[in-house]
Parts: sequence; structure tokens; C-alpha cells
Amino acid sequence: MNVSDYKNVTSATIATSSSVPRYRSRTQSDEPFMQYHSKGAVVLNSYLSDLVNLEGLISLNEDDLDAICNIPRFKDCKDKPLEEVFYKLRAYYQDIGYETLPEMSADFINRSISIAVRDILEYASINHSLPSGFPYVGSKGTSLYFELVDSTGYNVSRESYRHYVNFLKSISITTFFENLIFLGAGNGSEIEATLNNLPESILQKVKSVNTIDMTLSGIKHTFDKLKHDGTFKRFPHIELIGQVSQFEDVKVASRSDEYYKGNLAILIGKTSGNFNFQNLIEILNGFSSDGGNVLVDFGLFDTREQLTEISEMYKSDLNKRFLLSNLIRILTDLGCTPDMMTKIYDSFQVILESEENYSDFMSIRSVVSIPDEVNMILHDKFKLELPNQLTLMDSYRRKLPAITQAFHDAGYFLNQLYTSPDKKSLFTLAERM
Ligand SMILES: C[S@@+](CC[C@H](N)C(=O)[O-])C[C@H]1O[C@@H](n2cnc3c(N)ncnc32)[C@H](O)[C@@H]1O
Repeated sequence: MNVSDYKNVTSATIATSSSVPRYRSRTQSDEPFMQYHSKGAVVLNSYLSDLVNLEGLISLNEDDLDAICNIPRFKDCKDKPLEEVFYKLRAYYQDIGYETLPEMSADFINRSISIAVRDILEYASINHSLPSGFPYVGSKGTSLYFELVDSTGYNVSRESYRHYVNFLKSISITTFFENLIFLGAGNGSEIEATLNNLPESILQKVKSVNTIDMTLSGIKHTFDKLKHDGTFKRFPHIELIGQVSQFEDVKVASRSDEYYKGNLAILIGKTSGNFNFQNLIEILNGFSSDGGNVLVDFGLFDTREQLTEISEMYKSDLNKRFLLSNLIRILTDLGCTPDMMTKIYDSFQVILESEENYSDFMSIRSVVSIPDEVNMILHDKFKLELPNQLTLMDSYRRKLPAITQAFHDAGYFLNQLYTSPDKKSLFTLAERM
């Protein structure tokens, strides 16, 4: 197939190539179409948005699992490996299509939330870090993030927005893109910037805007904001799709034809800095194996003093509250005391850590210490423990030559390289070689 055949591609031909929903038919509805890849993420979002009432404490210890395995539906779970048991429990307790939130019994809700919370804590226990999108989840996480972005002391997002607009104005791409896939809704400012500044020749071809974020409340706020500020009004034909999922879980199947480039994934706003290089490449691979490209930005650094400057900004009380709010909520609902929470809050630090194997990639890492009393409770409820030092968020800054080399080694060509005038940000169109 060559580019001129593009217009003849029917949605049936392309539907199987991707788990990212493709344009189906023009919808007159103003409401975005929502997809839930991760039902656990929806349950967690409802819980952290106070949309469900938790009765009693969250727990999934041996007694709880025994009680569940005595329910006829789960009788074949006895003596099965824990992973298999949880797979079945997730399918039943987190299928919100099966029982909608208001119909759930207190018991059902408690189990559904316990599974979602256990998944987060298990991730943290294995990776020594919270999942990167976790602080944003739920209405409180979302509004604390918006407050942070709007605050005068925190100018990362505003700076990044300004540079992104200049990059878009400088860009020269002739490829067709049918779907713009935003990795991370944030406060919507980069979606707005893209639709207002990407060259008209590219925008004319776009049929859908997909936003992937593990935070349901974030996607909803963003779509609402962009509908009201008129950004989407300019493009009445563009279908809006929200996908509640972790970036890591979205995989686009490989395509064999060489010209079709239907997807442009956009990972902007220094979100790439939340991932170490290996995880970042796995995410990018998930979005580019069909020939799609990824617009991505990086925070750059030259001297250690520049990193120290940023780490001072991350120590603000508002950032601390944003990063800790959901963790403290969960631990409190697990029975941890206010004293334990104060210890965690007071232990907050921002440290500089270089990435293993990449000394020119440095994380400005926000961490807390987990007291033993907290781990005793987690052990009792889930047979899990958190590391003594838990990473709340990584924020990598990288040196330019090292980025180019590492991407080249990972099989990517960095096209349209743009360095901001202050040399703190790099934007590029990453293409699979
Ligand atoms: C720094 S903000 C992005 C800024 C955004 N581009 C904007 O316009 O404001 C990061 C966003 O990515 C989401 N996020 C972070 N890690 C994620 C992950 N692993 N999977 C899905 N969403 C994630 C967060 O919920 C948040 O909305």
C-alpha cells in the first residue's frame, strides 16, 4: 500500500492492527467515548474520589482469602497459585459492567477496593516506587495536581507548555496521522497546544483524539475543560476517546506495510522523566510498533547545580501534599494511625540519583521512609511490605548526547530535534528505525 491509497483504507481493514481504538464513525454526540482497559484503575479512581463508601477496613489476608474461596463461584481457587486466584478475583470484583457502583454490596465494594489497593502496594513493594500515575488518581489527586500546576512556585509545566508551542510551530512533517494519542491528560494544556499549533496540513487528516491516562477523573476534567474553552469546537469532526489505562498496558500490534503511519502518540510535559530509560522504551515500543511515531520531550541538564535548583522546587509543601495524598489515604483506611502518617510526611526528601547504566540520566527523586509499624499492618493485611525508602516519583533530567545515543541503540531515529532556548528541554519526533 502506498500513501495515495490511504484514503481507501476502511476502518475494517485497520481495526485489527491496534488496541488503540480507531476512528469508527462520525459521532454527533458531544460526549467522549470512554474505554476502560484497566478496570482496577476505575475502581481505584472511584474509591479515591469518594464515589463509593468503604465499610470497615481494607484487607485481603489469609482469612479473607479463605472466606472468598469458600464462596461456590471461587471453590476451584483453593490451593491455586496466588496470581491465578487474583486473576479470577479481579475478573469478578472489578468488572464494573457486571455490577455498577450503586448496585454493589458493602462486601463487594470492600473486596473490589482491597484488590485494587493490593495491586498498587504490590507494585510498590516490587519496584520500590509508586506507579507513576498514582498520585494523580481520584478527585483529590487531580485537583491537587491542578493546584500545583497553577501555583507560582512550580513553573515546570508552564515552561514546558511555552517551549512545546514553539516546537510545534517549528515542526515540518508530511506524514498522515489519523489518531493523535495523548499519553497523559494532565490539565489538558498540551492537548490544547497541539490542536491550536500543529500545522493545519496535519490537523486536517486527524480523525480522533485519544487520551490515555490511568486517572479517570483527570481524563473527564480535561475533556470538560477543552470542550468549554472551545478547543474541540474547531474540530467538530474529531472523535474524542478516553482510555483509562496505564501506558505500559497499551500495545499496538505490528503492521507490515511501510507507508501507513496512522498513529501519532504524544508524550509531552516532561512525563517521560517519570520513567527510567528501559521502562520508557517499553512504553514507546508499545505505541510505535505499527509504524506510528511518538512526539516526546525530555528535561535536559548540564550541571548538578541545575538539578539542585529543581529539587528545591519539588520540596514545596504543595508538591509534598500532591505526592502523598493518595498514599496517606490508603494507609489510613488500612488502619495506620495519624502518628505513623506524620512520620511518613516528615520523612519526605528530594534526592539526586543517577540511573543504573546511564550516568548521564539523573533522577530528581521524591522519597519517603516507611516506618516498621506501617509494614507490620501491611504484612497483616496483605502479606506485603514496602521498602524502607519508597520512591513517590522520579523526575529524570538527561544530557543531550546521551539521549541521542541511547535512543539510537534502542532502535529509534530522533527526527525534528528542537532544543529550547534555555537548553532545559528537548523535543523530538521519535521514529522506529
Ligand atoms: C505530568 S502530567 C502530564 C502533563 C500533560 N501532558 C499536560 O498537558 O498537562 C502526567 C499525566 O500522566 C498520567 N500518568 C502518569 N503515569 C502514568 C502511567 N504510567 N499510565 C497512565 N497514566 C499515567 C498522570 O495521571 C497525569 O495525568
